[in-house]
Parts: sequence; C-alpha cells; structure tokens
Amino acid sequence: CGIVGYIGTKQAQDVLLHGLSKLEYRGYDSAGIAVFAEGSVTLKKSAGRLAMLAELVDGPDRLEGSQGIGHTRWATHGRPSDENAHPHQDNEGNFTLVHNGIIENYLQLREELIAKGHTFLSETDTEVVVHLLDEMWTGDFFDTVIAVTKRIHGAYALGIMTKHEPGKLIAVRKQSPLIVGLGEGENFIASDIPAILEYTRNVYILDDGEIAVLTADRVETYDIEGTPTSKEVYEVTWTASAAEKGGYDHFMLKEINEQPRAIRDTLTGRISEEGDQVIFDEIEWPAGFAEQIDRIHIVACGTSWHAGMVGKQAIERLTRIQVDCEVASEYRYRDPIVTENTLMVVITQSGETADTMAALREAKAKGVRVLAITNVVGSSAAREADDVIFTWAGPEISVASTKAYTTQLIALYLFAGWLAQERKTPFASELPSILSGLKQLPELASHALQTAPAIEKFAKNWADKNHAFFIGRGMDYAVSLEGSLKLKEISYMHAEAYAAGELKHGTLALIVEDIPVIAVVTQEQLYEKTLSNIKEVKARDAFVLAVAFDGDEEIAKSVDQVISIPRVNPFLAPVIAVIPLQLLAYYASVVRGNDVDNPRNLAKSVTVE
Ligand code: G6P
Repeated sequence: CGIVGYIGTKQAQDVLLHGLSKLEYRGYDSAGIAVFAEGSVTLKKSAGRLAMLAELVDGPDRLEGSQGIGHTRWATHGRPSDENAHPHQDNEGNFTLVHNGIIENYLQLREELIAKGHTFLSETDTEVVVHLLDEMWTGDFFDTVIAVTKRIHGAYALGIMTKHEPGKLIAVRKQSPLIVGLGEGENFIASDIPAILEYTRNVYILDDGEIAVLTADRVETYDIEGTPTSKEVYEVTWTASAAEKGGYDHFMLKEINEQPRAIRDTLTGRISEEGDQVIFDEIEWPAGFAEQIDRIHIVACGTSWHAGMVGKQAIERLTRIQVDCEVASEYRYRDPIVTENTLMVVITQSGETADTMAALREAKAKGVRVLAITNVVGSSAAREADDVIFTWAGPEISVASTKAYTTQLIALYLFAGWLAQERKTPFASELPSILSGLKQLPELASHALQTAPAIEKFAKNWADKNHAFFIGRGMDYAVSLEGSLKLKEISYMHAEAYAAGELKHGTLALIVEDIPVIAVVTQEQLYEKTLSNIKEVKARDAFVLAVAFDGDEEIAKSVDQVISIPRVNPFLAPVIAVIPLQLLAYYASVVRGNDVDNPRNLAKSVTVE
C-alpha cells in the first residue's frame, strides 16, 4: 500500500493524487483521499485503479482544502471494495486515517470496540485503529496517538488527522516505511520518496517506532514514548524513476532484496507464540476433512509450478499423503482422477492466470475442495477457491517472479506443517524445529543476498556463453528448475535443469568443455550422489559453479567455484538456495543489456489460454 499526506497552502487534492500516482507500484486495487477544510473532512474512495478516484473528484466534485491524506491499496485484510478502501473514519467522523501494514490483534480489538458501541463499516484491520483513536481520545491529539500505539500490535505506517485539532497531521512508523517531506510553508508524509519528489528533495526518513507531528510550518519527531528525537535532513539525489525502484536499477533487483521482509510478513501471525503450532485460521475445512484427504493435486504455471514442486516434497514428507504437482494447462485437459477426498492446491502469484483458473474451475465442478495460495487479495483465485492462504510478498512488478516464489515456499512449508499437525502424523514432532528454522529464514535470506558481488563478477565473465545446465537432486532439483527458468526468461541464454542422476541417461552427451554447470548441493542425504554427478561433468571439462553451504570443504575441492549460502535445515534450503540463482539470472541479463523487468514476449500475468 502507499500513503501520502499534505499540509500547506496548495490544494491538497492535487498533491495527493499526484503522490498516489507515483505510489501505484505499491498496490493499485483501490484508492482514496480525505481533505480537511473549514472544520470538516470530506472523504472520497473507490475500488479500482487511481483513475477511478480521479474521476470522482473531478470538476464540480473537487475537494477544496489544503490539508489531507491519501492511500493506494494492495488489499490484505478485506477484498478490494469502496468500503475497504482507505482513508477510514470513526463513526463520529472525528478521526481520519490511512494505514499501511497489518494490525495483528485487530480481531480482538474489533470485538472490544463493537461491545463499546462502535459500528464497523469495512472488513479491514485498519478500521480498528480509527475507532480506537475516538474511543481513547484524551483531549490531546498527540497523547491519544501514543496511547493507541500501545494497544495495537503488528507492522504499520499511519497518517492521521482529527477534527479536534485542525492544521495538524500525525504520522507513525512501525516496521512499515514512512518518510516526511520538508517544504517551505508545507510538509508531506509518504510511504516512499517518489510521492513527494515533485515538491521537495529534503526528507526525514522516520526510524522504526518514530512519530512525526506536522503543521504547515513545522515538523517535530518523537519516539514511541513521546520523547523528542532529533533528525538529520536527508537530501534525495535520485531521479524520480530510480526512486520508484527504491534506488535499485530494476524492480527485479529491488524485489530480490525485499525477500527477507516478504518472508517475515508471510510468516507473521502464523506460528504460535510457543513456536510449536502453525496457525491457519483462514482455512475452514469441514470437520474430519484433514484426516480424510488421501491425495493432493498441486496445480500452477511457471514459477508457481516450481514452488509447487518443493511443496510436493514438503507435504509428502510431513504427511505421507500422495501429492501430484502438475502444470495447469496439462491438468485441465486430462480428466484427472479425483475423489471426494482429493484436495486441490492452486498456486498463483497474480490469482488471474487463465490456465490455473480453468484448472481450478474444472476441479470445483467435480466437487473437489480447492485451496489457493496467492499474492493478490480480491483476485479471481482468492474469490473462487474454497480457502485461501495469502502470501504477503506485496506487489511484484518485474515479470520474472522472485519474492512471490520464496513466499509461496513459505506458505507451502507452513501448510505442510499445519496438515501434519491436524492429522497428528508422527512427523508433526518435527514441527517445532521446522518452525524455528522458518523463523530464521528472513535473516538467512539477508546473508544469501550478500553473494551478489561474487555473482555479478561471475556473470560478467560468463556473458558470451549460450548454454548452461542446472543440476541437483530432490529439493535441489526443484530449485534448479527455477534457477534455469529465471536465467532463460531474462538473459535469453539457453538453460536446462536436470535431475543430477538423470544426466548420465543421455544428456551427458551435451556436456562439453567449459559449458557452465550450476550444481545445487544442499540435501544432506543426497550429498554423495550429487557429488558423483558433479565428478561426471568435471570429467568432461565442464565449468562447475556450486551453490552449497558455508564451510563445505568437500565441494570446494571438486568444483571450479562455490557460492556459499548460510547453513539451514536442508528441508528449508530451497528458500535460501534460490537467491543466488535469482541474482545470477539478474546479472546475466544486465550484462547482456536486456530489458530485465520486461523480457521480450513474456507477460506478468497471462490471462489467455
Ligand atoms: C506468467 C509469468 C510467470 C509466472 C506465471 C504464473 O507466465 O511470466 O513469471 O510464473 O505466469 O503466474 P501466476 O500469477 O499464476 O503465479
């Protein structure tokens, strides 16, 4: 989601709409603005792209006033609709607020507030905050905000105004980005720099837990206890287009680097405090269904299908249910065998892929219960599936999928663990150790990102190659498939992923001197086997780059170059092992001068068969 706020002398509506247009890349399923003038706040919001909102406030419907807040939404709690769009207001219209992030304890707060007579108009987690502000009003805007922040848990950036104290905006940042733009006789808040770059290059980057109080002439900042903090002005030197990409050259690189955050968000609220249970309140199966499932069909396309191949292994291992994983375009036409105890899991970043949707509808028509794993709230998959697990990757702009894939893996591991727990399988005893491993992944993903300089160098030396092989066994094979696809998609280099043990059955003929072979070696129980396969290609003078755990000396002796990734439970290794492969594809594409974010002939979401 994107937030923007303005206080000054210009027409707030113009500044807000312009700012939101620069934040649309953060989400675009609904938008809204609220403008304050002469003691009252006028609110306009609408589902759909920003252009729909712009129409609502055009001509005679213009909102006059020089103070306001706006929002462009990427739905999390509650589908995209006019009611769920921000800003939100309490029942008296005393407070108006925009929010980015997730309020974890909103259900409990919502019940408490309803009991106190508040009426909720939306399905959002955000709305509790605005009712809480009204409920806890102390007579002082700032004090009330501080008091409310003590009641809400989760990640949030807030922009708030109140009728009680006109001429003032308050911004709060906790784990969700927020900046303050400093102008002459005017000030701004925004989730990100592009929103305000037209007006000022001087900003405060708020720290976690910081609060800013803005008037047209002043900005004061405080910590969460209300103690003043001192800030340095940061001068933005980026161009507007670089700013949209967070300073990265391409959305893909930005999205690769967002993975620690995306993984953390996808885990949030889904592991019990004791760390021994998976919580999936969103799955509402009929009683006994979890025990009865005898077969699972995972169906998806492209990168999501590759995530499914890891998911298949994870679910089979923890539940011993037979899992098939198939591309949607095949599944739908082969009259798959299903019973009343079959579960279908569709995986789709966009939730709109035509092949996947057709397979979903086909299965539903046969009476199969469908669980969707998707990144887009309000998407067709989210609406039509019986149950939905959302990945919280945030909007993915680059056509080549990265953070959506890793968050799909997280959702699948959690689901595998949850199903084992519900069925009380013997493997459920492994759950605490798997869950503690999952919690470490955001940090380990950050470490894996540090392989970037070495990979960039490798990609430069490699630019003239036209073919590459990726090999691995078990989960490493699934990761190899994704690494190979990434490379093909954006570098246009031809690549093949092979189950390492299958190479000798013919494809070894293609291994010639200097051909790059990328070997993924993270699976302990298959280690020796993969090592033999590496030796087979080395014997044919291939150039072998291994992705292996830190401190693996054996591998270092057997290959030409090692990219070390931090050690992790091998069961979870795909999440970390894929990162260097994403970076390899990225740098290979850059070196070859390709349009990284928009590779030729491909589309982000393919809504035709
Ligand atoms: C397109 C994209 C791929 C993506 C696939 C599935 O082909 O180019 O990157 O993996 O669709 O998309 P979905 O949104 O269903 O995950």
